[in-house]
Amino acid sequence: PTTTATFCLNQFNGRRYFLRYLAGGAIAALSVGYLRPAQSLEASLEELCSAFPLNSRCKDYLPGVQATDVKGQPVAVDQLLTGAQPGSRIAVKGLADPAIGYLVVTDGPKIAEYAIGTTCTHLGCTVAWKPEQKRFVCPCHGSQYDDQGRVVQGPARRPLGLLTVVVKQNQVRLVSRTPAIDPR
Ligand code: FES
Repeated sequence: PTTTATFCLNQFNGRRYFLRYLAGGAIAALSVGYLRPAQSLEASLEELCSAFPLNSRCKDYLPGVQATDVKGQPVAVDQLLTGAQPGSRIAVKGLADPAIGYLVVTDGPKIAEYAIGTTCTHLGCTVAWKPEQKRFVCPCHGSQYDDQGRVVQGPARRPLGLLTVVVKQNQVRLVSRTPAIDPR
């Protein structure tokens, strides 16, 4: 009967369109994979090496940006640590925001795996490290932070931001850090 024929035809057409879409999707997926820009490959290497830094592909991978001193000269770790006192804070540049961060020198001496940002959490002025007070002090409205960047005097209420520091191949690399990861 006509109804059965129409039903079969619809089934056939539906299946044909389905297969056509399936093939189209597969070709598109292969094209995207093939044409994936170098930037994405760089991003996936970054993801791989953040999660598995000991992976063999990450041996020469340098995350983030290279830290420089405040005059813009690349920081060499061996030179930086020569004569550095544990507990000192060393201003470096590299990331655009914050423009300056302070490396933390620990016993060893070694460079801690985090640096302290200099953007005041009150209204965004740049704080300065005062070694004699062991505090970061904001020149705008007087907020003060301890040597870990925690507020000791307002009006600021939140601690200074942190950067991730990676020491590799005698370089200091600065990496932006998500606020959720904060050891303080
Ligand atoms: Fe730092 Fe106001 S901007 S105390």
